[in-house]
Amino acid sequence: MARAAMISRRLFAALLVATAVSTTAFGQQQRRFYVPPVAGSVRSVAAEGGMVVAQENLAARIGADILRQGGNAVDAAVATGFTMAVTYPRAGNIGGGGFMVIHLAERNEDVAIDYRETAPQTATSDMFLGADGKPDPDKSRNSALGIGVPGTVAGLALALEKYGSGKFTLAQILKPAIDLARDGFVVTDDTADTLPDMYRRMSRWPNSATIFSRADGTPLHEGDLLIQSDLTATLTAICEQGPRAFYEGAVAEQLVKAIRGAGGIISLDDLKSYRAVIRAPVRGTYRGYDIVSMPLPSSGGIVLLEILNILEGFPMSDMTQGSAASLHVMIEAMKRGYADRARLLGDLAFVDAPTQILIAKDYAAKQRASIDLTRATPWAGSLDARPLREGSNTTHYSVIDAKGNAVSNTYTLNFPYGLGLVAEGTGVLLNNELDDFTAAPGASNAFGLVGFEANLPGPGKRPLSSMSPTIVLKDGKPVLVTGSPGGSRIISAVTQVIVDVIDYRMDVAAAVAAPRLHHQWLPDEVRVERGFPDDVLAELRAKGHRLVEPLGYSSANSILVTPDGPRGGADPRTRGSEAAAQ
Ligand code: DON
Repeated sequence: MARAAMISRRLFAALLVATAVSTTAFGQQQRRFYVPPVAGSVRSVAAEGGMVVAQENLAARIGADILRQGGNAVDAAVATGFTMAVTYPRAGNIGGGGFMVIHLAERNEDVAIDYRETAPQTATSDMFLGADGKPDPDKSRNSALGIGVPGTVAGLALALEKYGSGKFTLAQILKPAIDLARDGFVVTDDTADTLPDMYRRMSRWPNSATIFSRADGTPLHEGDLLIQSDLTATLTAICEQGPRAFYEGAVAEQLVKAIRGAGGIISLDDLKSYRAVIRAPVRGTYRGYDIVSMPLPSSGGIVLLEILNILEGFPMSDMTQGSAASLHVMIEAMKRGYADRARLLGDLAFVDAPTQILIAKDYAAKQRASIDLTRATPWAGSLDARPLREGSNTTHYSVIDAKGNAVSNTYTLNFPYGLGLVAEGTGVLLNNELDDFTAAPGASNAFGLVGFEANLPGPGKRPLSSMSPTIVLKDGKPVLVTGSPGGSRIISAVTQVIVDVIDYRMDVAAAVAAPRLHHQWLPDEVRVERGFPDDVLAELRAKGHRLVEPLGYSSANSILVTPDGPRGGADPRTRGSEAAAQ
């Protein structure tokens, strides 16, 4: 309550404006419900050496094959990342961006690679406002103004160069992806089901839709072959000339032509000056484990640590897993973490964000003191809820090798298939990541995440993310590698996997499969997956929580290292996910 009172009048006024102007994100809100498997029926996959757990099985197997050939976790992660740009086009990408957290066993060092998309130099703080001065979500979500300078090629190449085993050239790592783009692969039910919805969006640019079409112009079906010739050429250029071939020369010219032709503002100079950045991860502890996660411009690591720090003061393991008591404190901790995200976080190059204060244990103690164990704290009672959008449009994979090197990687185009624009001649699907900026103080993005000044657009600025690739260590060795897609739901999903593994000692497959819930401060509601018992839900309601249906999935493909070796938990929410052992 005390913190709610701290929200200034101005801030509340901005929130009310945002509520009034916010609209549902593009398109359909498909309501597909995840029904968790019966307890005890899911099993993690064991590996003797390393393993790759990813949302798409061809890419997971290619990563595992690199491990088999003597590659380290980074070699495998880079191969999986480039392969998913071909085999999982809705989220795997070279036209988007992401984050990678790496644990290097021999050097006992942890590093983070920030390959987030960047706003072009001509970006302005009011670029996503309409003529009436109010946020215009159509500009950031559905127009080429929403495209950020893509970071994936630079990020994956940097990871390989700095932290790969040195046994593989970029060309060797790219070969399986190029083969699959050139020769094609069979479209799965999972991908086929996404195409009709995305088709409408893509058909605004006939060239984009053609790639995913049959000869008769209808979307590809399950069982059809997806051949991507232009993408083959782009990947081959990177293979022959290195990553700069994406950012300068013929590919860059084609990207800029397509983006500007569609009304975007990215220039050749923006592409040329893009750099992936090596950063120190954010670090904290949870019950004696070290938590290593993504720093700004992702809010993921900071908010995850804030939530875990709050939870650490509660006897979670004495409360039954999935009980109303346990879920109540999780919801309350989430609310407080996400509130700070909204108000304080943005790209560090532009904003003086108080990271160390937010992840300090004494700050968590203050936050914890404001939690009433019997009642939900009303954070924004007067505000209407906005729908969060559907999504399985980002992808996370976890990798470990036999030496204990680990990689946690989450990357995205933001919406499924990004903007839906494939730059002609390149096969590159472009992102609409700049919707993660805040169009105006108090406005919300497509995931309903509210933001303020810290996250307004600006030239060369990186929009605030929720992606939370995370590695949990004990005595310097990886215990858990985890992360998830899901927009705003990423941080709460990762929190629940960590609590289920550390506090409830669950097998990784059970922890990943367990039903999850989510609170993001605003809207003031709890998104609850199916699978929680009715009496638990009734107890949560009695405490004052507003429970609503979930929208979209998280998919926390994770690895737990046990005394008997790694065990993989591929998330059953995603068809086609796989834990591929070396
Ligand atoms: O960076 C972010 O937080 C978002 N652009 C991620 C989008 C996402 O996870 C969509 N997926 N389901």
